[in-house]
Amino acid sequence: MANDLLVQKVKTWIYEAGKLVQELEKNQLQVTTKSSRNDVVTNVDKEVQRFLVAKIESEFPEDKILAEEDEKSSLVDMSGRVWLIDPIDGTLNFVFQRENFAIMIGVYEDGIGKLGFIYDVMRGEMYWGGADLGVFCNEEKLEPPKNSGAKDGLWGINIGMYVQNVGNIQTIGENAMGVRMIGSAGLEFISLLKGNTIGYISNLYPWDYAPGVVLIKEFGFKASDLDGLTLAFNGQQHFIAATAQAYNEIMEIC
Ligand code: IPD
Ligand code: CA
Ligand code: CA
Repeated sequence: MANDLLVQKVKTWIYEAGKLVQELEKNQLQVTTKSSRNDVVTNVDKEVQRFLVAKIESEFPEDKILAEEDEKSSLVDMSGRVWLIDPIDGTLNFVFQRENFAIMIGVYEDGIGKLGFIYDVMRGEMYWGGADLGVFCNEEKLEPPKNSGAKDGLWGINIGMYVQNVGNIQTIGENAMGVRMIGSAGLEFISLLKGNTIGYISNLYPWDYAPGVVLIKEFGFKASDLDGLTLAFNGQQHFIAATAQAYNEIMEIC
């Protein structure tokens, strides 16, 4: 299937999933905990994942899927075409704010990012793009933000990692113009794309970073684990992404 047809198909699925979210959230949410009291999942996360998985499985039965909920959350390897799905990124925001969450899909081939989609449902903004396509918000093609240095802007940093000063990241925050915490990896990537922040550090799973990494790389950002190693697409990792200049500066001092 040609790339633009695939893009159209995925966008249609995600818009439909967004409508599903808005329908379902009119009713009482069923919220259950996973690993801890603030690691939660709702009936909406599960329904959206089921919806997207069914679309992919019926259209592309040969492809692999790595998705956050239920039995789809581990994968042996990234060979072939792999779809990475986060049905609701920012579930706590969804539960307590009913906004500031995203539906996300990343499409990878043999471990290489091809397409990324981050849909901010309540703002009606779909950030999408991919290798050699550029990056768009809805139909508008975006320009890359300035390649700022580590001190010359705001950083998005995970609160738990900041409090524990993992990898001495408090120094990054102290030297920068300030630190922000949104509570959705997808929205943090959107913030990078818009140039609102220059770097992002968090503790992420592959479905949290897969689509965002495709998009920010189109804009020349760098991303890796906090030690500078290639992302593993396997389990949770301390993650850093930043403008090329900020990334290089941080890696020199780490
Ligand atoms: C979480 C959010 C949050 C990040 C966590 C993620 P979820 O995703 O993206 O911002 O700090 O690490 O797990 O669980 O709401 O999909
Ligand atoms: Ca999620
Ligand atoms: Ca997530």
